[in-house]
Amino acid sequence: MDMQEERILRSEDDTIEFAKELAPKLKKGDVLALYGELGTGKTFFTQQLCKFLGVRENVSSPSYVLMNEYIGNYNIYHLDLYRLDAAEEVLELGLYDLFKDAITIIEWPEIADGMLPENTIHIYFEFIDQNRKVRISK
Ligand SMILES: Nc1ncnc2c1ncn2[C@@H]1O[C@H](COP(=O)(O)OP(=O)(O)O)[C@@H](O)[C@H]1O
Ligand SMILES: [Mg+2]
Repeated sequence: MDMQEERILRSEDDTIEFAKELAPKLKKGDVLALYGELGTGKTFFTQQLCKFLGVRENVSSPSYVLMNEYIGNYNIYHLDLYRLDAAEEVLELGLYDLFKDAITIIEWPEIADGMLPENTIHIYFEFIDQNRKVRISK
């Protein structure tokens, strides 16, 4: 998989395949920003990705807790910034210290856009007809 591509996700299996292809390309320090409306599959994708990154426990949505931490082949942080209303709150999470030794996956990253590392992998989820579309860009 190229880090610049777009594909239609017709089923959960397509999303699983996408996660499976992406997982081995990731390395420590990578930050993934997941954009897209509610229900477009950001959390589902993260659950699958974590599985392919060696996480054995159940991955749940961090929308209430802001951040979950998992250990697989890497330390993995899974954040959902939907409930934050100021960029300063992102700083309070201490994101910067987290980034470098882990893979960080961020749902609703818009509020932190200006703070994300330059090499952040941006992944955009969308509804399209009866399906979903995903676009990845570095
Ligand atoms: N192709 C697909 N990819 C991902 N999720 C899908 C797909 N088709 C149906 N779904 C379902 O849609 C829902 C997506 O929800 P979720 O991942 O929580 O979205 P978000 O985190 O973007 O709000 C899940 O219940 C999932 O089972
Ligand atoms: Mg979600």
